[in-house]
Amino acid sequence: MVKKTKFEFTVNELIQNRWSPRAFSDKKIEKEKLQSIFEAARWSASAFNAQPWRFLVAYKGDENYQKIVESMVEFNQLWASKAPVLILNCYAKHFSHNAQINPTAQYDLGQAVAYYSLEATDLGLFVHQMTGFDASKAHKLLGFDDKISVFSVTAMGYLGRVESLPEDMQKMEKAESPRMSQQAFLLNDL
Ligand SMILES: Cc1cc2nc3c(=O)[nH]c(=O)nc-3n(C[C@H](O)[C@H](O)[C@H](O)COP(=O)(O)O)c2cc1C
Repeated sequence: MVKKTKFEFTVNELIQNRWSPRAFSDKKIEKEKLQSIFEAARWSASAFNAQPWRFLVAYKGDENYQKIVESMVEFNQLWASKAPVLILNCYAKHFSHNAQINPTAQYDLGQAVAYYSLEATDLGLFVHQMTGFDASKAHKLLGFDDKISVFSVTAMGYLGRVESLPEDMQKMEKAESPRMSQQAFLLNDL
């Protein structure tokens, strides 16, 4: 299913094709694709080139995957536990060059996630980010130290059948994704 959205201006195909599904197929993601996806994250920009993003990649059936699912709110467990891969998006809290707190680590992480999401889209995959989970629970279950902060989870995989979802989620899956107009977020005229 390709979600057709009303674009007001021209954008590239990757941006046109990206959306966040909840129905994932159980087809595994090829390792080469994951390598390309994280290569995209690797080349994202960051303040001081600190590259504070850290990712834990969990595969359906492994122990880490189960721990991430356990930390999710029930709504997210219902659909995200079908995805072949869950990525725990984390960041290093401190700069390595001076051990100070890195105030832009979350910003840089978000940008790296956006980068890998578009690479995944280009490879025919779909990505659905979520913050509906208990980050401190995930941090504890995975045994991370206090240098790492857990921020969000990404479900990734090939698109599944809408009919595989509970009925209320099927409706959400088919619904249009509303967007503000550019005038609503541009603070001045172009
Ligand atoms: C940081 C972040 C947190 C999100 N948390 C959740 C979540 O917990 N559960 C969920 O179903 N979707 C979640 N989403 C998905 C958004 O609802 C979705 O991206 C938004 O509705 C726009 O739709 P689109 O991605 O299909 O364009 C999250 C997205 C982001 C970026």
